[in-house]
Amino acid sequence: MLLLLLLTSAFVLVPWTGAGEIIGGREVKPHSRPYMAYLIIQNGSKPFFSCGGFLIRPDAVLSAAHCVDKKGITVILGAHNIRGRERSQQKFRVRQWVIHPKYSRDGFKNDIVLLKLKPKARINKNVQLISIPRRMERVIVGTKCEVAGWGWTSVPGHTTNVMREVELKVQKEEICQNLFKNYQRQSMICVGGDSSKKASYKGDSGGPLICKKKAHGIVSHGRERHPSPEVYTNISYFEPWIREQLRKFALQELPDSPSYN
Ligand SMILES: *[C@@H]1O[C@H](CO)[C@@H](O)[C@H](O)[C@H]1NC(C)=O
Ligand SMILES: *[C@@H]1O[C@H](CO)[C@@H](O)[C@H](O)[C@H]1NC(C)=O
Repeated sequence: MLLLLLLTSAFVLVPWTGAGEIIGGREVKPHSRPYMAYLIIQNGSKPFFSCGGFLIRPDAVLSAAHCVDKKGITVILGAHNIRGRERSQQKFRVRQWVIHPKYSRDGFKNDIVLLKLKPKARINKNVQLISIPRRMERVIVGTKCEVAGWGWTSVPGHTTNVMREVELKVQKEEICQNLFKNYQRQSMICVGGDSSKKASYKGDSGGPLICKKKAHGIVSHGRERHPSPEVYTNISYFEPWIREQLRKFALQELPDSPSYN
């Protein structure tokens, strides 16, 4: 019931021009992407919409800033079927997060947020970390990458309870520069679109673009009726900022409560 409400409202409220689902993909093998996070965004006590994210350290999840803004956030790790009562799931109420100081909703510039988990996630076979690239690492045009999430599976709005994935290729930046007036070459990655109908879509926002086993991009935004090509946040560009935030997270750290299970 709760999730139904959530998915219904996702329809209306997730900005897509704000990318969010997996179109043209397939169900993932359960728990084959153990770094994936499911985010429930609340307005006060009400679930509001959902997003993706990914675990880069036991106390840190990366996602898209437009998912979060100033609302309440719950993170679920270790999930396959988000409506199932899976024993693998770890749930966190997020109390601290850092949105990039230059994030702008207009054009989704610097669309990146780091969420702090407290207590830390328990790393096991269903909950694991994914690496991010270093600052000068880049993905070249034509690189095959994958994106996963729980978002819409078609433009008219079919939803899914289980995690899905799709393979996409890095596209020439000129293509996105022509389609998106606020496209920024360094801080964004242009993905998909060579006559394929594959894409991420509403509800996938915040999820990772995985290229060669590293999270190179964050699902950010696309066009409502033509989901492909679409724009991802370029993680490599933000790597120094991410490292700095992670250092701050660690400095503020209090001992974990021994009582979490
Ligand atoms: C959030 O909830 C409050 C109180 O229920 C409501 O007045 C407000 O319009 C909601 N915000 C949005 C963006 O829907
Ligand atoms: C991403 O950022 C890095 C580091 O600033 C840069 O070298 C690269 O060209 C950017 N774009 C892509 C698509 O990797």
